[in-house]
Amino acid sequence: MIIEMNSIRKSFGSNDVLKDVSLSLEGGEICALLGENGAGKSTLMNILGGVHQMDQGSITIDGKSQQFSTPAQSQEAGIAFIHQELNLINDLPIYENMFLGREIKTKRGSLDLERMFQETKEMFEKMNVDLDPKTMVRDLDSSYKQIVEICRAMMTNASIIIMDEPTTSLTDREIERVFTMMKTMKDHNVGIIFISHKLNEVLQVCDRYLVLRDGNLVAEGNVSEVTTNDLAHFMVGYNVRTESLLREKELGEEVLSVEALTYNHTFKDINFSVKAGEVVGVTGLLGDGRSELFQSIFGADDISSGKIYLNEKEVKITSTTQAINEGIAYLPRNRKENAIIGDMDIMENASIVTWPKFSKRGVIDQKKQQDTFEKQRKTLRLKMGKLTDSITSLSGGNQQKVVLAKWLASNPKLLILDNPTQGVDVGAKEDIYDIILKLADENIAIVVLSSEAHEIIRVCDRALVMYHGVIQGEVKKETMNEHNIMSLATGGQLT
Ligand SMILES: Nc1ncnc2c1ncn2[C@@H]1O[C@H](COP(=O)(O)OP(=O)(O)OP(=O)(O)O)[C@@H](O)[C@H]1O
Ligand SMILES: [Mg+2]
Repeated sequence: MIIEMNSIRKSFGSNDVLKDVSLSLEGGEICALLGENGAGKSTLMNILGGVHQMDQGSITIDGKSQQFSTPAQSQEAGIAFIHQELNLINDLPIYENMFLGREIKTKRGSLDLERMFQETKEMFEKMNVDLDPKTMVRDLDSSYKQIVEICRAMMTNASIIIMDEPTTSLTDREIERVFTMMKTMKDHNVGIIFISHKLNEVLQVCDRYLVLRDGNLVAEGNVSEVTTNDLAHFMVGYNVRTESLLREKELGEEVLSVEALTYNHTFKDINFSVKAGEVVGVTGLLGDGRSELFQSIFGADDISSGKIYLNEKEVKITSTTQAINEGIAYLPRNRKENAIIGDMDIMENASIVTWPKFSKRGVIDQKKQQDTFEKQRKTLRLKMGKLTDSITSLSGGNQQKVVLAKWLASNPKLLILDNPTQGVDVGAKEDIYDIILKLADENIAIVVLSSEAHEIIRVCDRALVMYHGVIQGEVKKETMNEHNIMSLATGGQLT
């Protein structure tokens, strides 16, 4: 099967997102689609997936012209789409989610739950996925939801699979599993379009690359002929700096310290502290308990025992409002589920934490609020239209920047960032690292939770590595490298 998209144009209002883009893909080929946040990658794929209509251009499959007015029509033509934002129903078990819209029925016309369960189970076995198909989707964390979506796409026997940032919230081990799945599909002559901001992954798994910038295709070729630096250059149009950001700095007083913090089986006997001006990383593999630990510190969840100190004074934080009042900011791990409010516009999303700060006797000082946001918008290089546009009209990476802006505006003394660069392009990643270091220079205590070892190494002064709810070890300066982090994260010791 060969798919060709020819001279595609698409605008949203006055925003010309795709100016004249053509691409082709054959079965058995993995092609990377790259570009900065807002470059138009998801839009191009939404056109192929029947979600959006193109303004001009044509799509052909094996030379025959096609028109997709709905996602169903695109699916019928053999195209499966794994969206950037997940699309599962929380209140159904996995195996029913696997057959949404193409349910298997018994002869009598009722749902054949047993067969759907069996087929899901077989798929999981084939793909080496350790999940009970009867688990409710709401009980899965975001990385497992992603894996379920990938398996669902594979079950439709599609000839072309579009994967829009499938690995953003996965850990290394799961990414490996997804790559193995992709290679198996490739061997079965399935063509894959792979969108990712992780350029090392692109080199590892893709055959070809296409790069979009400002609505045009600016580069394409074979992956074997380029480096990650080349790809980054094509994306942003200039050379992206990649050296480490190590710095020497006097640290201030202890802002946060915890003693023997424990919550059921999620985390146990946690002791650590963070000083003003310090950037402490916390990393580990899936199930390490790091997000749960900091959700508890932020008052979103309980603790069973242990003590929390802020500026050396013991505090009992029982709500997130109290945590915010104490000067803690927490950027959560999963943007769609925990960080953005889809019904609100950009400005409302960006200022929701700071409303109390900008209001006087119940009246919000909108000018002050907008000035603050305007500053953030510039430093974060946010690509957006009007402040009153819906947050969901922004590209994924730009939504993440709005969430970051929101927390920065609260002027925290302790800033907890969980997966801060999820879905953010290479250029903007550097912007965010710069901002983290600048905030540290302004004496904010910062905790960065991340599953990407290179990110931790890049921006943190030292890092705690967790394994099944305990701090397995700490790395700093000369011991801070991927090998040591991985060995602690898998339950080993520093050698
Ligand atoms: N439904 C929509 N309504 C209005 N504007 C939209 C809509 N969808 C996308 N856009 C705009 O189109 C542009 C391209 O967005 P798109 O989501 O395709 O970017 P992307 O390349 O996928 O970026 P990212 O890497 O951040 O996911 C952005 O400026 C975005 O604001
Ligand atoms: Mg996108």
